[in-house]
Amino acid sequence: MPDWKALRSEFPLLDRYIYLNACSLGPLPRRGRAALARYAQDWDEKGTPVWFTDWIPLLERFRERIGELLSAPAGSTAIAPSVSVALTTLATGLPLPAGRDKILIGELDFPTIGHQWLSRPEYEVEFVPSRDGTTIPPEAFAERIDKRTALVATTHLFYTTGYLQDVRAIADAAHAAGAFCLIDGYQTGGCVPLDVEAMGCDAFVGGCLKWLSGGPGNAFMYVRPDLIPRIRPHGTGWFATRDPFSFTLQELTFADDARRLETGTWAMPSHYAGLAALELILEVGVENIQERLRDLTDRILERCVEAGVKTFTPRERSRRCGIVTLECDQPEAVEAKLHAEGVVVDSRPGRVRLSPHWCVTEAELERGMDLVLDKVRAGAT
Ligand SMILES: Cc1ncc(COP(=O)(O)O)c(C=O)c1O
Repeated sequence: MPDWKALRSEFPLLDRYIYLNACSLGPLPRRGRAALARYAQDWDEKGTPVWFTDWIPLLERFRERIGELLSAPAGSTAIAPSVSVALTTLATGLPLPAGRDKILIGELDFPTIGHQWLSRPEYEVEFVPSRDGTTIPPEAFAERIDKRTALVATTHLFYTTGYLQDVRAIADAAHAAGAFCLIDGYQTGGCVPLDVEAMGCDAFVGGCLKWLSGGPGNAFMYVRPDLIPRIRPHGTGWFATRDPFSFTLQELTFADDARRLETGTWAMPSHYAGLAALELILEVGVENIQERLRDLTDRILERCVEAGVKTFTPRERSRRCGIVTLECDQPEAVEAKLHAEGVVVDSRPGRVRLSPHWCVTEAELERGMDLVLDKVRAGAT
């Protein structure tokens, strides 16, 4: 097991707050801060040549590390500025089965997934209901997949309940009926070990803002390698082409690999920070982080049961990781009160969401939970 105490010194923010909101914005690591300073220095010292000496190699390395995080084959990962943009590219680029017009989405998924297909009149969107408000079993997707279903698009772990879905079962059900499966892993990248081939999904999106502590602007995508030659996004950019520096205007030849999903000039400062943080997480080991987070969320759930506070998160360890949500009348007021007392949490409609950083100590968690439970029980007062 890693030395959590030693690793904690990588995150100065943890000295100022009891940080229970890592699933929203991961704290800046020291090496992320150093990478941002290096970005400014490289740009200032080298000027234009920096693209070739540092920036393009850095992007290459970033794609490789994303591949490592996802256990994805070389050339199957691409960078995007946000998960929403990644979904936009995939929504038109994926060679979905012809003649089908239905997209299945989970009722507990993040809104941008729904919005992506609701914005496309050529598709009918069906939302798969959750019976208990916490989970959606894979059978609920399977029951609704039919001959009209082109795609099942859903999140790996629900942002509002912390339920970890069985992607393999969903992907198998989609494929058995001739449909595709796209997974949004923004809430699992960096805290749940990922293997896109073992999961069997056709496409996967995620980003470094949350559990990967890489800051905004660092989203990514994976597409099953055998599909890549057939991907032709409607809407692209010169850096999606095979040879951008040929400056060919009158024809469009997409890159052979997943780079064909990218568009224009990358936001380099983001990627300096993103790569530094991603490498830190890979060193620590996602498997270790998952175990640590499950221990912390075990304790949060225990404390909630003792206090009689209702949660929306599965007790079963294997079906959750780093998120627990608690019922709360005035979540925003509770969030503000807790912040004033040095505890960072998040609010969502009707609930307070806790997602401890993996370097939060046991003592901090107990103190944080004392305050959280006090405030949740008392409302905002
Ligand atoms: C699961 C999930 N998907 C997508 C998004 C939105 O990502 P972006 O803002 O990068 O488009 C979020 C944001 O919190 C999220 O939690």
